[in-house]
Amino acid sequence: MKSPVMTASGTFGYGLEYSQLIDVKKFGAIVTKTITLEPRIGNPQPRIVEVTGGMLNSIGLENPGAKVFIEEKLPKLKGYGVPIIANISGSREAEFVKLADLLKDIGLSGLELNISCPNVGYAGLFAQDADTTYKLVRKVRKVTSLPLIVKLTPNVTDITLIARAAEDGGANAISLINTLIGMSIDIQTKRPKLANVVGGLSGPAVKPVALRMVYEVSKKVRIPVIGMGGIMTSDDAIEFLLAGASAVAIGTANFVNPNTCCEIIEGIKRYMKNNKFSNILDIVGRINE
Ligand SMILES: Cc1cc2nc3c(=O)[nH]c(=O)nc-3n(C[C@H](O)[C@H](O)[C@H](O)COP(=O)(O)O)c2cc1C
Repeated sequence: MKSPVMTASGTFGYGLEYSQLIDVKKFGAIVTKTITLEPRIGNPQPRIVEVTGGMLNSIGLENPGAKVFIEEKLPKLKGYGVPIIANISGSREAEFVKLADLLKDIGLSGLELNISCPNVGYAGLFAQDADTTYKLVRKVRKVTSLPLIVKLTPNVTDITLIARAAEDGGANAISLINTLIGMSIDIQTKRPKLANVVGGLSGPAVKPVALRMVYEVSKKVRIPVIGMGGIMTSDDAIEFLLAGASAVAIGTANFVNPNTCCEIIEGIKRYMKNNKFSNILDIVGRINE
């Protein structure tokens, strides 16, 4: 990767809307919005609410489905010359396996398994159970040789157990965190602000939780950890690298300033120069305790 900074799934679409505005070529990778086998319309509106220190969303994996991704989105994305990682999800194990198989020889640089979406009711949260995580990753591993990133939910008691299960199942990297489940109420109407009642909390409010989880997980697995959750500036990103992340992903910040990834890339370079670091590994996990 050219840089350790990538987009977080669902916050950069399929990368195509922004290409006129920003220098996408500098990104370490583009991680796509979640793709499912069939198209999905997502949850009812309203499904985004601003809250103190971040936002709640209950999009519910709206996406055009695998066929449109392969035929329309991916050819354009490839034009950027940046590694493309497809984030995939399914309501059953078999759907993950089928999707991974479908996406294996089409020029992707990796797959991110979204086993942690809080907004799809039934089976979005495979990652709340270590055994389920292990079995799912192992099955997907058998059908593809693409690098597998497994994306974890913070909505668990001990995220390190799930991370270990993903590693044992054959994951090449772990990414965390997906959103924390939250809610917001309009006190005049006394109604929940989201039609779905609850949704995923992201943005600066979740950063300390995300940082703690990256720190804990990176000490328990041998594979790289991709850190995300509330990263708005290069200082935030450097905290995640010091905590043990080998790369970071930028989510909610893209809605505030679409150029955030580029600014963070420049900020990390400045930090390295000022501290006379020549390699990103001079930062990764180098927290002083
Ligand atoms: C509007 C919105 C949509 C999202 N959609 C997805 C998605 O489709 N798949 C996924 O794995 N994560 C999704 N996420 C979670 C983000 O990728 C990320 O894990 C989370 O927001 C924490 O990072 P942040 O605080 O920098 O946003 C979404 C987040 C937001 C705010």
